[in-house]
Amino acid sequence: MERITLNIENRKSEVYIGKDWKTVNELLPAGGYIIITDENVRNIYGKDFPVCPVISVKPGEESKNLNTLGRLAQGLLGAGIDRSGFVLGIGGGVVCDIAGFLASVYMRGIRFGFVSTSLLSQVDASVGGKNAVNVEKVKNILGCFRQPEFVICDQKMLKTLPEDEYISGLAELIKTAVILDAELFSLIGQNVNRIKNADPGLLEDLIAKAVRLKASVVTEDEREITGKRMILNFGHTFGHVIETVTGMKHGFAVACGMAIACDISSATGYMSTAESERIKSLLNDFGLLKKHGVTAGQFGKMLLTDKKKEGSRINFVMAGPVGRAEVVKMEADEILKIYRSVISSE
Ligand code: GLY
Repeated sequence: MERITLNIENRKSEVYIGKDWKTVNELLPAGGYIIITDENVRNIYGKDFPVCPVISVKPGEESKNLNTLGRLAQGLLGAGIDRSGFVLGIGGGVVCDIAGFLASVYMRGIRFGFVSTSLLSQVDASVGGKNAVNVEKVKNILGCFRQPEFVICDQKMLKTLPEDEYISGLAELIKTAVILDAELFSLIGQNVNRIKNADPGLLEDLIAKAVRLKASVVTEDEREITGKRMILNFGHTFGHVIETVTGMKHGFAVACGMAIACDISSATGYMSTAESERIKSLLNDFGLLKKHGVTAGQFGKMLLTDKKKEGSRINFVMAGPVGRAEVVKMEADEILKIYRSVISSE
């Protein structure tokens, strides 16, 4: 078991990797807590939940909206949760995002923590204090930065994930390696089959490495002020559009977005063509690159709803060489022009 501490302005967020989730009781306050989860997680693990009120949401991104948030707030009121209360989110990215946001705004903010049940949330979504809901089709447009008191990442829970959920999570792991750690990228490349087979020891090591890397970025720039944290959005500019237009799972959409970002990074000289091909080939080894069918026109329209834009300029994350990335402010039109030239030469 490993404990990684995010120490941000005298506030601590503890991430436990390889801790038995059933020991979560040790981290909960004496009374006044409530669990937010989804129906799938509740069906599998509900019988072992700590004894307290439980509210479930429908699994999937569609639940990350204001209606659900309102229903959950009513549930907290009904359960008598007051300002001394605590919200425990047990689930993947969607549950962590919405439970974290709910706890952050309920009575102007109460305490919260997570048991993170998907690979995607263990390596990325549950760590770092980004909480949000979508409005209509615009992802994460209402949100806040607020750190969970703790996150438990228990690799045993990954065994019950549907295969495509598990593979989807690998995209964020590969992203972390591409932008921050060339050695981690090689380690993933050398262990494709063991990772596909969800080898628990290897997973614990990979998740701990990804969390340590993310923790160092978030500790340096929790609120995306210096731009350091923005590199974690590598692949997400195009990826979010693909996810919204096609309904593809987040990791698959981000993988397609990373492939596009690699092409753009190599077309603009940030990475070599060979490196771009190496990254795309690793994504392909895990079956992450699917045909998305999104047109350049659709990208053009939707890039302008990106949270990372300032006026008509977008903070675009270029990667290269493997293990490094930087944010480049570019006109949305300029990015699209490069994108069009890349696809026309394929
Ligand atoms: N998932 C990107 C971030 O946490 O900043």
